[in-house]
Amino acid sequence: FLLVNAVTILSGIAIMLAQQWTLGLVLLAPAVPVMVVCWLFERRYSEVARRAQDQVGDLTTVVEESVLGIRIIKGFGRHRSQARAFRELSRTLRGTELAKARLLASIWGVIVTLPEFAIGTALVLGTIQVADGRLSAGTLVAFLSTALALRWPVDSIGFLLAMSQEAATATERYFEVMHATPESDGTTTVAAAATVPAARESDGEGGLRFHGVEFRYPDAPADAPPVLARIDLHVRPGESMALVGATGTGKTTLTALVPRLHEVTSGRITLDGRDITGMPREELRELVAVAFEEPTLFSATVGENVLMGAPGTAGRAELDRALSVAQADFAHTLPQGTGTQVGEQGLSLSGGQRQRLALARAVVGRPRFLVLDDPLSALDVHTEAAVEAALRRVLAETTALIVAHRPSTVLLADRVALISDGRIAAVGTHHELLRTHAEYAHLMSGAEEDGR
Ligand SMILES: Nc1ncnc2c1ncn2[C@@H]1O[C@H](COP(=O)(O)OP(=O)(O)O)[C@@H](O)[C@H]1O
Ligand SMILES: [Mg+2]
Repeated sequence: FLLVNAVTILSGIAIMLAQQWTLGLVLLAPAVPVMVVCWLFERRYSEVARRAQDQVGDLTTVVEESVLGIRIIKGFGRHRSQARAFRELSRTLRGTELAKARLLASIWGVIVTLPEFAIGTALVLGTIQVADGRLSAGTLVAFLSTALALRWPVDSIGFLLAMSQEAATATERYFEVMHATPESDGTTTVAAAATVPAARESDGEGGLRFHGVEFRYPDAPADAPPVLARIDLHVRPGESMALVGATGTGKTTLTALVPRLHEVTSGRITLDGRDITGMPREELRELVAVAFEEPTLFSATVGENVLMGAPGTAGRAELDRALSVAQADFAHTLPQGTGTQVGEQGLSLSGGQRQRLALARAVVGRPRFLVLDDPLSALDVHTEAAVEAALRRVLAETTALIVAHRPSTVLLADRVALISDGRIAAVGTHHELLRTHAEYAHLMSGAEEDGR
């Protein structure tokens, strides 16, 4: 449309100037003010259009959160405040949309009125010229017909420009996302990777190892103390290490560093002597399996959710094994067995059931390294005992780091690391730490009271 209309307008103008150049100039006169107006409004319009799009984003966030958190909202009687937030955001958005419409109306007003006015003027001037005998009536009719033929192309070009402006802001928003720097894939540390064979064979380098790791969240203020500092920890091959510490000491953060969900600020983490930044993310995440405190399930079947832990390689047998290890055999008794769809976010299952499926997902691929962030927190005492018994078998064949709170879980591990204020305060067996560390004894006794 832009092309066809532009060509039509240009040829029309040439024809009119050839027919009667004075009248042609009268018709062309509004072009300058129209362009000035368009230029003036363009920036303001793109600003408003962008604001409207951002506000639509905010509004949909509120809707999404309200729908997902509907139980909390009902449970705490927050529906009124949620509705108010929705109303306020809608009102703001409505205001912005109206401002947008007003701007558009002004542009249209100018674009539509000025050419009409010019045609009127040309008609009057032309008639005078015909009366004076300086112009033939036929030429005037031909001239005006040409002018009228140009009306729709001129009108529509304004509309097209407004639309392309909107498209431009939407495109800008799209490319903001697409141009986000992708996570580096460790190809820059080829040198480190090249030294692997030697490092791998040397003693004490195997297993999962933290070397002077320091971490602060990228969005933290620069003067805030790091969440984790001077972490030196060695989980030997085949060993399982429990991570114990009060809430907020950085346990979850530490576990997230292993599959590179966050990048260490300084220091390094090695798996069997290989720096994790030196291996492709896909390989790393195949080596390391994770299960987090908050078990996340997707709207798919139970089987698909579990097999997500070993894409492509695992089949029926592995699925059954993983379900039995995680004591998630309840899956077989669901209406369609492991083919049963779990509701959105797994909401049709109980917390304990979800946690056991997440655990099954972590073990299904028989990972070399297993990182579990308090995977037993939502289990009742009997199920927990059963899962622990099963976990004992899994832990025997992998190298594992498990965040634990209860003594019974801690006892599954060969050694325990006590983390305190973002530092490793002590490493030893459960009994050693009970004797030597008051903080550890305190943490464990508290857990004993409310856990058992
Ligand atoms: N995404 C985040 N951004 C900034 N700070 C965070 C983030 N997640 C956790 N923290 C902070 O890091 C500290 C450690 O948190 P976390 O690792 O979850 O502790 P734990 O699992 O031991 O309870 C806390 O002080 C917490 O406020
Ligand atoms: Mg945590």
